[in-house]
Amino acid sequence: MSYSVAIDGPAGAGKSTIAKLLAKKMGYIYVDTGAMYRAMAVYFVQNNVNPDDEREINVAVTGVNITIEYMDGVQQVILNGDNVTGMLRTEEIGSMASKTSKYAAVRRKLVELQRELAKKTDVIMDGRDIGTTVLPDAFCKIYLTASVDARAKRRYDELAQKGEKCDYDIIKKDIEQRDYQDMHREISPLKQADDAVLVDTSDMNIEQVVECIENIINERK
Ligand code: C5P
Repeated sequence: MSYSVAIDGPAGAGKSTIAKLLAKKMGYIYVDTGAMYRAMAVYFVQNNVNPDDEREINVAVTGVNITIEYMDGVQQVILNGDNVTGMLRTEEIGSMASKTSKYAAVRRKLVELQRELAKKTDVIMDGRDIGTTVLPDAFCKIYLTASVDARAKRRYDELAQKGEKCDYDIIKKDIEQRDYQDMHREISPLKQADDAVLVDTSDMNIEQVVECIENIINERK
């Protein structure tokens, strides 16, 4: 039994915000697995790899080496020796990650890395398949979700606050499309593990979610 915590759920449910806060509060190392799929996507974009061609992807994956480091407690993703952490959170990279995360070669490489990290220390790991595939023995599994509207509104507010131009309907459609891709792929689709606790954050603020999950973790200790 691993004392790691698995947090899965759809895009925009607040997984990384919540997992980061919980890790700090409870003394865990936070592992963001989406960042690894995004780093792989940076390589595909930089090398003009066609996301629809699995053979091209399979060849490209052999040229990718991803490692994880921590700088002041913050996860850094190193792609073939370069720290690409600052390049991961663009729409282009998110979309490439979402399209290419369905391939076996991509998942095999990253799942192996994720398991290695969790072997060294207890972690709070977030993603889509952590409770079902990466860490099936995690002692606490959370499925964090929220309605599409709540997630789209949060994303809209976040972009608007940064002064970025955004369209609510486009954001909502993009979220729906990512949900569909993540939930319907053949390998490790996004779904709630049988032993995961469902937390719907549609009507909760960040503090409430952190408190709720902290209580669930403490109850299981
Ligand atoms: O969570 P984030 O939006 O950063 O993840 C980017 C993409 O990586 C997701 O759209 C999903 O397709 C993929 N992903 C995955 N499995 C994980 C984490 C992320 O398939 N464990």
